[in-house]
Amino acid sequence: MPTILSINCAIDALLLCLSALCTTWRRVIVPLHLLFLLTVCLWIGAAAPARASDLTQGQQVFALHCAGCHEGGGNIVRRGKTLKLKALEKNQVATLDAVIALVTNGKANMSAYVDRLTPAEIENVSAYVLDQAQKNWK
Ligand code: HEC
Repeated sequence: MPTILSINCAIDALLLCLSALCTTWRRVIVPLHLLFLLTVCLWIGAAAPARASDLTQGQQVFALHCAGCHEGGGNIVRRGKTLKLKALEKNQVATLDAVIALVTNGKANMSAYVDRLTPAEIENVSAYVLDQAQKNWK
């Protein structure tokens, strides 16, 4: 995706240079330039929601698979290992990648979810955990 974006921008810059050099081409090139700008915007627009995790599904997965031990962002098994932002930061699991890795592979008394949840479900529930941590689980 980023490569497509930069190719797009490079072509656009080239078009603008051409139009500066050759005034007779300007009528063709300026609309083309606008078209490129539009495709860049569309790319960015399409890329953003594709990366955003589905927090609603994350919440459902959490209620089903995690709340038993982590109700309200707590931890009934290991008191210091809650899902509150402070604990996540202290235990170095305050990033999406870190939570995904922990949920996928499990850790100590928490079992792995690699066989029980799809990668998308794991990503969504991890994003939900971080989102709730930011909001202090309220
Ligand atoms: C059987 C109880 C149990 C269930 C169910 C469970 N966990 Fe855990 N979880 C734990 C325990 C115990 C730890 C502490 C692991 C350790 O010793 O580092 C933990 C740690 C974590 C941590 C790191 C917290 C920290 O402060 O270090 C995250 C994030 C987490 N769990 C997310 C989840 C998610 C998401 C689910 C549901 C997919 C889930 N857990 C299901 C018991 C559970």
